[in-house]
Amino acid sequence: MHTKYKFNPENKLVVLTGAGISAESGLKTFRDNNGLWENHNVEEVATPQGFRQNPKMVWRFYKDRYNQLKNVKPNPGHYALVDLENYLQDNFTLITQNVDGLHLVAGNKNVLEMHGSLRKSLCSKCNTYYDMESIDLDVPIPRCERCGGNLRPDVVWFGEIPYFLDEIELKLRSADFFMVVGTSGVVYPAAQFLQLAKIFGTNTIGINLAAPENVRLLDEFHRGKAGEILPQLVKLWTN
Ligand code: OAD
Repeated sequence: MHTKYKFNPENKLVVLTGAGISAESGLKTFRDNNGLWENHNVEEVATPQGFRQNPKMVWRFYKDRYNQLKNVKPNPGHYALVDLENYLQDNFTLITQNVDGLHLVAGNKNVLEMHGSLRKSLCSKCNTYYDMESIDLDVPIPRCERCGGNLRPDVVWFGEIPYFLDEIELKLRSADFFMVVGTSGVVYPAAQFLQLAKIFGTNTIGINLAAPENVRLLDEFHRGKAGEILPQLVKLWTN
């Protein structure tokens, strides 16, 4: 394992993770599934139109995904990012496209879940947020306690605007390093962050099982499993 970089606690690092970092926890990625998410057509379960057409089916799908998480644990890739945050403290920012919440379970604190979380829901009428564990999931469509509106999973669907975009841009502007882990680099706007980082003159690092589409934008690329590579790199970067 070779890296040309070494971090000191003054360095500002922004990390973007995708489904690949959770693959070794047993969760399937998206793109190697022919556009299917756990055997469901993405249009049906991950768009506002799909929810309007069949809210019961969409809720069933997300309840299953939420219940599946109860048997899923963070892996060494997640924990390596906790070590990195402990080293860099407030200079560390973790942006994730994942909705599994595993970074928070592992212990990372400064996490921006830009596509939301399977562990939360919100009212489609008054926008009140709820933890999934606090709502009654035995009914077909959970209701808002405040206004009676239909709750929906707090997942950013296709055609909706991801969370934290302004904050992410500010973080990218001031970063010394930007690292992308386990993401195919094809879903916008996350795919654009690497281009932005290059424009801002940031050092860019990638870790992926296979070269992602935008590999030419990476100053250093490590091919392999995040759960094997990240722990080794973090040791080299922080010792
Ligand atoms: P993808 O499924 O598009 O890409 C997963 C990436 O992880 C691929 O580039 C794989 O090569 C890589 N990979 C797989 N296993 C790995 C491992 N063990 N270690 C390192 N890399 C590995 O997933 P995302 O890029 O996350 O949106 O997809 C982005 C968004 O598209 C998701 O957030 C989701 C989806 O539609 C929403 O849910 C809103």
